Amino acid sequence: MPRALSLDLFLTSPGFETALLAEAGRGHTVSTGLVAMEPRPLTETDYVFARQVLPEAIAVCEPSVERLADAVATELIARADQLEVPLTLHVFVGDVDHREMPALSSRATLLERTLTERLRFRRRRLHRRLTIGPGGVLIQVLLAEPSVAWLSVDTTGAPSPPIGAGWPVRFPAGRASVPIDRTAPSTAYLKLAEAFAWMDRPPRAGEVAVDLGASPGGWTHVAVQHGMRVISVDRAPLAPELMAHPSVAHTVRDAFRFHPPEPVDWLVCDVIAAPDRSLALLSEWTASRRTRRLVLHLKFKGELDYGRAQEPLAILAESGYGYRRVKHLYHDKNEVTVLASLSPEGV
Ligand SMILES: C[S@@+](CC[C@H](N)C(=O)[O-])C[C@H]1O[C@@H](n2cnc3c(N)ncnc32)[C@H](O)[C@@H]1O
Repeated sequence: MPRALSLDLFLTSPGFETALLAEAGRGHTVSTGLVAMEPRPLTETDYVFARQVLPEAIAVCEPSVERLADAVATELIARADQLEVPLTLHVFVGDVDHREMPALSSRATLLERTLTERLRFRRRRLHRRLTIGPGGVLIQVLLAEPSVAWLSVDTTGAPSPPIGAGWPVRFPAGRASVPIDRTAPSTAYLKLAEAFAWMDRPPRAGEVAVDLGASPGGWTHVAVQHGMRVISVDRAPLAPELMAHPSVAHTVRDAFRFHPPEPVDWLVCDVIAAPDRSLALLSEWTASRRTRRLVLHLKFKGELDYGRAQEPLAILAESGYGYRRVKHLYHDKNEVTVLASLSPEGV
């Protein structure tokens, strides 16, 4: 069978397509939240403004779900039948127009069911290798339109990377699932919970975190939920239940002048500041190894700042942080999330 033309496809948040194209210096927008580029090695494509990559994806177009499932199964068998390893299947829709989302989402669910049925019928051995868990070769099927699916089989990915640390990431559509928590004092908790999922490993009970710019306490709440002890720094108080929490020490200080008495396990920082100030804070904390791991928001005033999104990587490399990444995550608005570990686990 002749190989269809393949492209690397990238998922980005709606409205950030231009930022991704500018960052990569190549490619074109396919549709809202979807950008295509000529294939390159994955080590070169972990862009800040891309939340997921579908390496070497091919387009499959058929008018009905049944025919789409058949055609995707044929292509998948051609690419994965010889792989004697576990296979992980993600079938999903992108961040498309909300009015079309429910219909397209249920079509994707139907496509997944029909596709796995077809695989079971046509290639029982391949079907048995499909696992629920995250460890296998990643097969992604993006239903971009009712009759257009993109198929990507990543045979180049590292075997079993830590769940959020790989590229492609192991969350369907690059969206780490974060449970709704109505007890959190602000919705900002979603951002830190998502960021922790992208780390080389999650926080552990008993670790110590400093939370800079902590009020009203969404991030402190997430840290406490992980069993951490938290030093929360803000000029404003936290929500009453956190002010009274035995694992939380709130201190009224300038976040830019606060130094912990000894190095901590985690720095989490959500202070609203111009990029220069946040980058200076990052340099200071990492050069002096004040923290082993960190999650920091670099906030932007406007699109002109987006070109600065890569700057943390040089700072972290210079300070010797082995796991370093900057990502515009699903819950991020006009900001990007800086993630780093001194001694990465399994990356
Ligand atoms: C986006 S909010 C943080 C929200 C918080 N992460 C949460 O989950 O609830 C930013 C916080 O930074 C604090 N802040 C800004 N500049 C500060 C400074 N120089 N020192 C201490 N806190 C500061 C503000 O008071 C504000 O509470």
